Amino acid sequence: MSRGRPPLPTLVDIEQSAREKLSDRAWGYYSRPADGQTYRDNIEAFERYRLIPRNLRDVSIRDTSVTVLGTRMDIPIAIGPTALNRLAHPDAELATAKGAAAMNTGMVLSSWANHSLEEVAEVAPPGIRWFYMLFYKDRGRMKRLLARAERAGYTAIFLTVDQPLLPFQIDLRPVTFPVSIRFPNVLDEEPPHAPGSAEYQESMRAALKQPATWDDVQWIRDNTRLPVVLKGILSGNRN
Ligand SMILES: Cc1cc2nc3c(=O)[nH]c(=O)nc-3n(C[C@H](O)[C@H](O)[C@H](O)COP(=O)(O)O)c2cc1C
Repeated sequence: MSRGRPPLPTLVDIEQSAREKLSDRAWGYYSRPADGQTYRDNIEAFERYRLIPRNLRDVSIRDTSVTVLGTRMDIPIAIGPTALNRLAHPDAELATAKGAAAMNTGMVLSSWANHSLEEVAEVAPPGIRWFYMLFYKDRGRMKRLLARAERAGYTAIFLTVDQPLLPFQIDLRPVTFPVSIRFPNVLDEEPPHAPGSAEYQESMRAALKQPATWDDVQWIRDNTRLPVVLKGILSGNRN
């Protein structure tokens, strides 16, 4: 919470505040991807939870901390990877990282972040940082990225495995943005085309290995000393 602003005690308050502050385009992107079915399912799933009070216990000392991937965090909630934080605010992932560090919890930096992984690390040095990496055709690029993430103090590599093909359906016309959007973790050099143009998206798409397979996961495991986490596994059945 920023100083001088009223607190936002519930998720509903946070959502309402976001609706007021964000442009229509940013709100559209962040709030309702696809048809919203998972969004509704998630809310319903949480609504099924009930807390059962254990009465008359000594709760003068409370501890919500947990150890995740070898690191102690103060709360059992971390920040998942989210692309394009800059649509919401010029500070983008720098602000998200500072927030995570202030709560002493983890943050997965998306490859689709608008600040470089080094910039994010520098702004919140004590933060618990994990890096969500894309699969690239160029193994050299993967090696360089893994080395950069290790050097910058990221302590795990996340691979999103439930999106074999990237949709690139986000409408990124730069003219209507209050700030310029770039993706410094995806390519070593920004393509010369306007962000959001068909050519720009094609440069990104051309660099990515789609779809990735278990062999690619194994290659990443063999080429980093960091733990590798697969994000998006919904079933134990490999067939
Ligand atoms: C705006 C937005 C951007 C996202 N960007 C990414 C991403 O770059 N990489 C990724 O693996 N998941 C991404 N996700 C998926 C989230 O990490 C998360 O898995 C998903 O939102 C489900 O969690 P939730 O129910 O808490 O929202 C994104 C989700 C949203 C809403």
